[in-house]
Amino acid sequence: MEHSIESYIKNLVRETIGQTISDVQTHNGRSNYVIANWKMNKTLAETADFFEKVTCDDTVSVVICPPAPLLYLANNMIKQQVKPIALGGQNVHWAEKGAFTGETSTEMLKDVGCEYVIIGHSERRQYFHEDDEIINQKVRQSIKAGLIPIICIGESLEQKNFLQTEQILTEQLIGALKNTGSSNFIIAYEPIWAIGTGQSATPERAQETHAYIRSVLKQLLGQTADSISIIYGGSVNEKNAEEFSSMPDIDGVLVGNASLNAETFEEIINVFAKGEQNE
Ligand code: 13P
Repeated sequence: MEHSIESYIKNLVRETIGQTISDVQTHNGRSNYVIANWKMNKTLAETADFFEKVTCDDTVSVVICPPAPLLYLANNMIKQQVKPIALGGQNVHWAEKGAFTGETSTEMLKDVGCEYVIIGHSERRQYFHEDDEIINQKVRQSIKAGLIPIICIGESLEQKNFLQTEQILTEQLIGALKNTGSSNFIIAYEPIWAIGTGQSATPERAQETHAYIRSVLKQLLGQTADSISIIYGGSVNEKNAEEFSSMPDIDGVLVGNASLNAETFEEIINVFAKGEQNE
């Protein structure tokens, strides 16, 4: 990939002032995001290989969230290769520092180059018993530290079948955003039944749900809700990304499995980059 002077300068600014640069806004004033959640995958060698291969331009905000031990290398690779890619953690602790064996602080994430952090992923809610209270504390600590939280919400299959989706999403949103006083976050709608199953939500159904999420955000934050990016996650791949990108309230995707392969992930990036250029 050719690296333009412009993206080189943006990277320099990003490093110097430690801020996210939203290069291009969508027609509705929101940034489009393509975010990779690698979950517990990849070695150092595989990480280096991914960053050597993946290419993108800066017409879409690309964020990669590797496991914590791979962040340092990922950050170095991004700097070395001058790619317009931001880094995110997959989890963070709610306390600033202290006796919390095995945990990672917001300061550590920032120090290693992260601008974002995923909070409240359903796998953390399920396997690590994170509830709305813990998620709220993590969101608040992240905002305080200057990280942008990617807040995950989503209903289980059972809740969907019992027509409880809207109620669950509302509770999760209110729980996560209590006393945060900020609109600098991303919401990721990830229906649990769609994660890792190959059964994504239909783009129409996802659009309806995103519109509902935005209506709740409007109740909580007023018109600012229009500027908040709401992204979809759950079995997104290079084949279905295009359909999601055409929906007015779907401002990007959070990708698990299909983000592990540089070529596949790049195809998904290109769908959203192209979408912005076309507007
Ligand atoms: P998959 O894309 O593998 O379904 O995972 C989605 C996810 O959980 C992203 O956070």
